[in-house]
Amino acid sequence: ITLFIPADAAAVALGADRVARALTQEAAARGLDITLVRNGSRGLFWLEPLVEVETPEGRIAYGPVSAKDVPGLLDAGLLNASLLDGADHPLCLGKTEEIPFLKGQTRLTFSRCGITDPLSLEDYRRHDGLKGLTRALALSPAQILAEVTDSGLRGRGGAGFPTGIKWKTVADAKADRKYIVCNADEGDSGTFADRMIMEGDPFVLIEGMTIAGIAVGATKGYVYIRSEYPHAIAVMEEAVARARSAGLLGPSVLGSAHAFDMEVRSGAGAYVCGEETSLLNSLEGKRGVVRAKPPLPALQGLFGRPTVVNNVLSLTSVPIILEKGAGFYRDFGVGRSKGTIPIQLAGNVRHGGLYEIAFGLTLGEIVEGIGGGTASGRPVKAVQVGGPLGAYFPPSLFDTVFDYEAFTAADGLIGHAGITVFDETVDMLAQARFAFEFCAVESCGKCTPCRIGSTRGVEVVDRIAQGIEPEANRLLLTDLCNTMKFGSLCALGGFTPYPVMSALNHFPQDFQPASLVEAAE
Ligand code: NAI
Ligand code: SF4
Repeated sequence: ITLFIPADAAAVALGADRVARALTQEAAARGLDITLVRNGSRGLFWLEPLVEVETPEGRIAYGPVSAKDVPGLLDAGLLNASLLDGADHPLCLGKTEEIPFLKGQTRLTFSRCGITDPLSLEDYRRHDGLKGLTRALALSPAQILAEVTDSGLRGRGGAGFPTGIKWKTVADAKADRKYIVCNADEGDSGTFADRMIMEGDPFVLIEGMTIAGIAVGATKGYVYIRSEYPHAIAVMEEAVARARSAGLLGPSVLGSAHAFDMEVRSGAGAYVCGEETSLLNSLEGKRGVVRAKPPLPALQGLFGRPTVVNNVLSLTSVPIILEKGAGFYRDFGVGRSKGTIPIQLAGNVRHGGLYEIAFGLTLGEIVEGIGGGTASGRPVKAVQVGGPLGAYFPPSLFDTVFDYEAFTAADGLIGHAGITVFDETVDMLAQARFAFEFCAVESCGKCTPCRIGSTRGVEVVDRIAQGIEPEANRLLLTDLCNTMKFGSLCALGGFTPYPVMSALNHFPQDFQPASLVEAAE
């Protein structure tokens, strides 16, 4: 009998290792023969640890399971491997695929995550792995570039720059060496998609990077993973070693004339190292400060050579594009936002987790429909979209369509597609202060608007909170935000105004001195 318990960091944090131990021990004590697979997470965090049992009719899910539930689950017939056995246990969720949160998704990038054994290359192949690379090996680099460009794939790290154009810039550059760098420094609060896929399906990243290498003529890749992700680092390192010994990486990729190899590197805890040029400095062993652009990394990147710097989700979207063709991918989505986007729901939300879906739902459908509203049961007051540098949206803007252009038009950004939900108890003035504080702590210090502006911003917000010349200080706040937005060298200083100004514009009542609010009430 085969059982699945995720080894994903989120599931482990919720007790998955304890459940795995308890199940192994209890099964042994009862003389039951089990095969336990430590899969990735399905991304339904309120149900983790999620235990799944293979049955002839498909996988049956139980969750959230704790170690103390294990004897009762076995008594109820969990291991009888029949769909109906154990089904009347209160933790039984029925067929995994039928759980509404999963059933409503379109999983292209995450198609294997939570299903396969992450470190089994055989399992990867069995579930359509390496089909994209195999097809890429039969195409010319120019044809691969055309597929990626035609698919409409845009940078999933946040900026949404067309991936095909970036790759072509690198492919056209003349140099003795070129590199593929995967940005896995997933620093945005409330985001976890990069981590989940690296832990749950690491070979898809290796496959995507290898295709990128073949397309642009790079033979070496680096995955730069934040140090806060020790599980992802360990899984990726092991996957790279296994890919190398299986001939997927090395001087002859799958027996072809193409060479490609890669290494895993870890960061040291700086948010700004998710900015591509600081990341490159950090990879080179230098201090993680931002470099001025131009030159673009595509022309002068790692060690001064043409470099593709792509987010994990951009690279992991490539294998399916190559496997099924550009048209297949482009048919999902709306407007210029093609394909699917793995949305990450976090904060005060009932159903937090990963939801991959074609672009085009409204923000309200995502937060209220999929997320089920707040975990506290109170009304939603604000959602922050796009991490700590993203704008806050009030429910009155819940009809905003989730795509790059609609969010830009609404003075926001979808960023890395993290959505953090807040209920009515949140103080938006405090959130604005937090944005400046965060920027002050994480600033690399290279440019003045960010280095000085962030600290001045905290002071201005504090004066508003204390009721000191509130009108003048609100104007000063707006002025400061304009200076930071247009004068900062990178997105850290340049995007801090998004949370601040959206808080001020959409929640002006929170920027009134307490005495005025009380009087108005
Ligand atoms: P950007 O707009 O400057 O550049 C986007 C990408 O396109 C870069 O890789 C750049 O080198 C490349 N590019 C631009 N013009 C090009 C050209 N003509 N040819 C080839 N390549 C070209 O944006 P940036 O500063 O790289 O990223 C900002 C974004 O990062 C924000 O939108 C934010 O959402 C996101 N972000 C994501 C985080 C995460 O944890 N994933 C954390 C913080 C910010
Ligand atoms: Fe450094 Fe901030 Fe300037 Fe970016 S905006 S270069 S983080 S000081």
